[in-house]
Amino acid sequence: MALSACSSLGPSNINPLTTPSFSFSSLKFPPFWPTQKVKMGPLSVSPMGFGTWAWGNQLLWGYQQSMDDELQQVFNLALENGINLFDTADSYGTGKFNGQSEKLLGRFIREFQEQKGSQQNIVIATKFAAYPWRLTPGQFVKACRASLDRMQLEQIGIGQLHWSTANYAPFQESALWDGLVAMYEKGLVQGVGVSNYGPKQLLKIHDYLKERGVPLCSAQVQFSLLSMGEDQLEIKSICDSLGIRVIAYSPLGLGMLTGKYSPSKLPSGPRGLLFKQILPGLDPLLSSLRDIANKRRKTMSQVAINWCICKGTVPIPGVKSITQAKENLGALGWRLSSDELLRLEGAAQESPRRMIQNIFQTR
Ligand SMILES: NC(=O)c1ccc[n+]([C@@H]2O[C@H](COP(=O)([O-])OP(=O)(O)OC[C@H]3O[C@@H](n4cnc5c(N)ncnc54)[C@H](OP(=O)(O)O)[C@@H]3O)[C@@H](O)[C@H]2O)c1
Repeated sequence: MALSACSSLGPSNINPLTTPSFSFSSLKFPPFWPTQKVKMGPLSVSPMGFGTWAWGNQLLWGYQQSMDDELQQVFNLALENGINLFDTADSYGTGKFNGQSEKLLGRFIREFQEQKGSQQNIVIATKFAAYPWRLTPGQFVKACRASLDRMQLEQIGIGQLHWSTANYAPFQESALWDGLVAMYEKGLVQGVGVSNYGPKQLLKIHDYLKERGVPLCSAQVQFSLLSMGEDQLEIKSICDSLGIRVIAYSPLGLGMLTGKYSPSKLPSGPRGLLFKQILPGLDPLLSSLRDIANKRRKTMSQVAINWCICKGTVPIPGVKSITQAKENLGALGWRLSSDELLRLEGAAQESPRRMIQNIFQTR
């Protein structure tokens, strides 16, 4: 069964009355009414997707299999509320949970379709790791088939390169690019995308793919109020001129922009070490987020995600619980004013430290 994204989930899919424990009394969690889909190459996607890095990752995100039922509810709630873009990767899942994010997504899609008895327009955007042993286009095609097997799908929405090898193994780069071409030509993916590609590499791969008739749909980059450097702005402007959609990953700064962490309240594991470096200088930004959120009766997470949307990107916040999913859905259906955007960006500039960039991010 091929799943694709050609038409929108219509208003008939939305029924807040059937959404469990939905709070009408709080304007912070309003029912989400579908906003128009945006184009991503040949696909139509919701203006926000959900990220699934945590689904299977014990090391960084504390995943346990006991979370699966709730993650399935997250998935169902997202679809019922018009979200049709889900980001994953073939490297997501640690240890025995290797590939778990794709496996869970596949299972959730099947069970959702069975329950509803109809096909939904779901866009899975998965990423293929540039492992050093993937040295030929054929190995990327094999990787793509393995992802399809894990999800039990016939076709992937967007097949993305997880990172470029230009910084450390430039000879491998052509295998990656030809791998994307081969996947597309074999009909295994509806469109292709990149991730962690900087402006220069982005232009190069765009031209390479264009010559071969393969549309580059998306460029995924770390983009948030804590990650809005010159590279991000340049990538955005290149993408705008070439008709490529920017997917904003880690839009909540791994959770720092939600307001729930502080130097005295850090998450466990490696995130705590990172947050310890950044949070002490973040008061001006967190105060502005809080102030705008209070005035608008939104939450800080909703404001941080809405900022990404206002900058013309498609954010993919990572979501681990039904409460987070409901809250993040409330980032849609409204827009920050230009004054609010300026205030947030000014406050972000005051932060002495930003997010660490992905080690594979190229120029
Ligand atoms: N291409 C790449 O190299 C790359 C890299 C990173 C991420 N990504 C993609 O981007 C997605 C999103 O990025 P991310 O997961 O790194 O970070 P993020 O979206 O900035 O933060 C997500 C985390 O924040 C917390 N959170 C989310 N919503 C919340 C809410 N409403 N209230 C309170 N806490 C909330 C959750 O963690 P806690 O509850 O544990 O705090 C959640 O896992 C990933 O899932 C992945 O699909 C791609």
